[in-house]
Amino acid sequence: MPDLEKLFENNRRWAERQLADDADYFRRLSSIQSPQFLWIGCSDSRVPANQILGLAPGEVFVHRNIANLVISTDLNCLSVLQYGVEVLQVAHIIVCGHYGCGGVRGACENAELGLIDNWLRNIKDTYTRHRAELEAIEDPMARSDRLCELNVLAQVRSVSQTTIVQNAWLRGQPLAVHGLIYSIQDGLLRDLAVRITNSDQVEAIYTMHAVKR
Ligand code: CO
Repeated sequence: MPDLEKLFENNRRWAERQLADDADYFRRLSSIQSPQFLWIGCSDSRVPANQILGLAPGEVFVHRNIANLVISTDLNCLSVLQYGVEVLQVAHIIVCGHYGCGGVRGACENAELGLIDNWLRNIKDTYTRHRAELEAIEDPMARSDRLCELNVLAQVRSVSQTTIVQNAWLRGQPLAVHGLIYSIQDGLLRDLAVRITNSDQVEAIYTMHAVKR
């Protein structure tokens, strides 16, 4: 498989470097996984969670999909969320978008792209909710960057509305949901200053209360 030869070579060198720094590295890592953070980010190859956060393997649990969406029927994302919250007991869920997101840009246009249009529809819904604000922005790039931010905020809400997060709060588990955005242009993360830590910050209709049986 000559196409992958370079990758295997990279991998061998990386494993050697890790062992040179710490002979026990892989043995320790293989015995336990206890990340504090769950990252929900875009699949874009320029937005790798570990590198951006400066975290080593074992320190961040990661879910990525196109345009970092949290859809209430997406079994994949929900399973990651459940495992992260209930088994790994992460303390922070970070929804991270990025400026210049191709998924968000695609959602701003009307070209038919295929199956993915059904996925991007969720971003069009966010666009519709904020149409007045967005259409007041003349520059199309600036408009789509604002939609990147609004999309993150919508996904933070979506995470907070899941039964998984609601139940964690009901149990008294400390869990914060954050909204961040990354710029590929300067490599910096920006905090969108949203931090949801309990059901009181979630619209009432989405909250759950303990049911007496
Ligand atoms: Co993207």
